[in-house]
Amino acid sequence: VRSLTIADIKDKYMNGMPLTMITAYDYLTAKWVQETQSDMLLVGDSMAMTSLGYTSTTELPFEEFKYHVASVTRASGSSMIVVDMPFGSFEQSYSYGVANAIELLKINPKVTSLKIECGNHDRDHYTIGFIRELCERGIPVMSHIGLTPQRANSLGGFKVQGNQSANDILSLYNTAKYLQKIGCWSILMECIPYKVATFITENLNIPTIGIGAGNGTNGQVLVISDMLGLSPDNNLQSLPRFVKNYDQLNSVAIKNLKIYKDEVEQKKFPSIEHSFKLKETIWKDFLD
Ligand code: KIV
Ligand code: NA
Repeated sequence: VRSLTIADIKDKYMNGMPLTMITAYDYLTAKWVQETQSDMLLVGDSMAMTSLGYTSTTELPFEEFKYHVASVTRASGSSMIVVDMPFGSFEQSYSYGVANAIELLKINPKVTSLKIECGNHDRDHYTIGFIRELCERGIPVMSHIGLTPQRANSLGGFKVQGNQSANDILSLYNTAKYLQKIGCWSILMECIPYKVATFITENLNIPTIGIGAGNGTNGQVLVISDMLGLSPDNNLQSLPRFVKNYDQLNSVAIKNLKIYKDEVEQKKFPSIEHSFKLKETIWKDFLD
């Protein structure tokens, strides 16, 4: 199956068609996403928490992340694959960051774009410069602004961004305009008031993808584990308000594993229909 390209995504954007994106972390979840024919599949560093048991995305080793990207790319389908640049893979220098960006793209030609968290343009000159370095080299970048989990500590936690003052809004808006100017093909906005996200979207000519950014962005992204209730500690109370939880697959899984365990303990499984038979004549031969 042919994967969508950035040009295909831009066509949909130009035609006012909403863009869909879902995260995936391995072959299995990628298969699910590909089955839906979502426009984009994001290999998010959120896997650190949702699939690997780390407490923060900043703990995720680059080597482990790459292993998961490879797994995702083995699932066939039309969803265009966008890959996060994890914390620590680009902050130390531009040359180190460019080398790691190239490594991610080399995992599989299906890796079409990188996604990079970026602070506001008036403060985060380093990341703005790094994104420019990639764009100048022809490496497609979706930038990620607003709540950027890799910088949660410097943002003072997981909080809505661009909502404290007019200046906050202006700073976010200028950042988006700047990222468009230096060549980002798309901007992801996380946890910002819907009016701000809509305003920014209306004033850009590249697609915006929102999470916790309301209905005025050009597309939406959600974390698969949150949507499906996959995470072990998943409960509806602990999910951020912008997540819609569609199912509780975690409890479905545990329920069925318990049934199996009970059946084994009670000698109900395997029954005769799950067992292999042998011709009586052969068995007789053996006994003789
Ligand atoms: O890592 C991730 O899943 C993300 C989305 C929340 C946008 O960056
Ligand atoms: Na991420």
